[in-house]
Amino acid sequence: MTQNTKATFTLNTGAKMPAVGLGTWQSKPNQVREAVKVALQNGYRHIDTALAYGNEAEVGQGIKDSGVPREEIWITTKLDNPWHKRVEEGITSSLKDLGVDYVDLYLMHWPSSTDPSDLKKHLPDWNFVKTWAELQKLPASGRVKNIGVSNFGIRNLEKLLNDESCKTVPAVNQIELHPNNPSPKLLEYCKEKGIHCTAYSCLGSTDSPLHKDQTLAKIAEAKGKTPSQVLLMWGLQRGTSVIPKSVTASRITQNFELDGWELTDEEMKQLSSLPDRFKVCGDAWLPVKVFFGDDE
Ligand SMILES: NC(=O)c1ccc[n+]([C@@H]2O[C@H](COP(=O)([O-])OP(=O)(O)OC[C@H]3O[C@@H](n4cnc5c(N)ncnc54)[C@H](OP(=O)(O)O)[C@@H]3O)[C@@H](O)[C@H]2O)c1
Repeated sequence: MTQNTKATFTLNTGAKMPAVGLGTWQSKPNQVREAVKVALQNGYRHIDTALAYGNEAEVGQGIKDSGVPREEIWITTKLDNPWHKRVEEGITSSLKDLGVDYVDLYLMHWPSSTDPSDLKKHLPDWNFVKTWAELQKLPASGRVKNIGVSNFGIRNLEKLLNDESCKTVPAVNQIELHPNNPSPKLLEYCKEKGIHCTAYSCLGSTDSPLHKDQTLAKIAEAKGKTPSQVLLMWGLQRGTSVIPKSVTASRITQNFELDGWELTDEEMKQLSSLPDRFKVCGDAWLPVKVFFGDDE
C-alpha cells in the first residue's frame, strides 16, 4: 500500500524531506498558529513558511503547541528578497521568530536582490549568484541543514550552476507546479542536476479555477476522492513534494488522506494535458524579470 504521508524524498545532501507539507502563505494571523498545530497533530511533519509571509513567529508557536518534538519536524523557511546582502541577519531573524535552533531547509525565495530602501529597485552591486555564495556558508554553522532556491527557471539555474563560486548544487528548487503549469522541461532539467522540486500553489492557490475543472472533477468522482486530493496525488506521482496551504481543519486533514490509492497512467496523462496554461505567481511585482518562458 502506498504510504505517501510517511514518504520522504532524499535530497542531494542525503537528507530525507517529508513528501507532504503544510503551506502557510497568506495564512492570516490568529489562524496559522492553529493550522500548524492541527496539521502536526494529524500527522504532517513538514511546514513551509518564509520571512516574507510575516508569520514565522506564529508558525513557531503552532509547532510548540502541537507537542510534536522539534527533531521530528521538517521546517522550511526562505530568505526574503530585500535581505540578499544580509543573509546572516535574515537567518538569525527567522530562527528567532520561529523559536528554533535550526531549520531543515533554507531557500533563496526569489532570484531578485531587491534594494531594501526601494523595493522597486534591484541592488546595483549584487545578484543572486552572490547571495548563493553567502547561503553556501550556512550549513557549516548547523543552523541550516540544507540550502536551496525557489522560483528559479532553467536560465537562472544555468547562470548559478555555471558560476565558479557555486560549490553547492541547490538541494531543492521550490516552484509553481499544478496541471495548468506542469513545467516538464524544468522538472527534467532539475532531475538531471540532482535538484529536487517542491510544488507550490499545488492546488492552484486561492480561488483556484482547478477546483472547477471538468477533467479533474471527473477523475475525482470516479476515484471517490476530492479534486484537491487528486491534485496532490498528481504532484506526488511526478516525483515532487507538495505543500498545500489551508487554515481550515477539515481541509488540512483531507489534504493528508493520500495513502493506499494512486492515479493511473491515463489519469496522470489527462491531468498533465489540460489545455489552459497559466501561472498564479508572476514576476511583475519584482524589480527584475525572473521568468523567461523557459518552461517556467
Ligand atoms: N516559493 C514561493 O515563491 C511560493 C509561492 C507561493 C506559494 N508558496 C508555498 O506553497 C504553499 C501553497 O501554495 P498556495 O498557498 O499558493 O496555494 P495552494 O496550496 O495551491 O491553495 C491554497 C488555497 O486552496 C484552499 N484549499 C486548501 N485545501 C483545500 C481543499 N481540500 N478543498 C478546497 N480548497 C482548499 C485554501 O483555502 P483555506 O486556507 O481557506 O482552507 C487556499 O485558498 C504556500 O502556502 C507557500 O507555503 C511558495
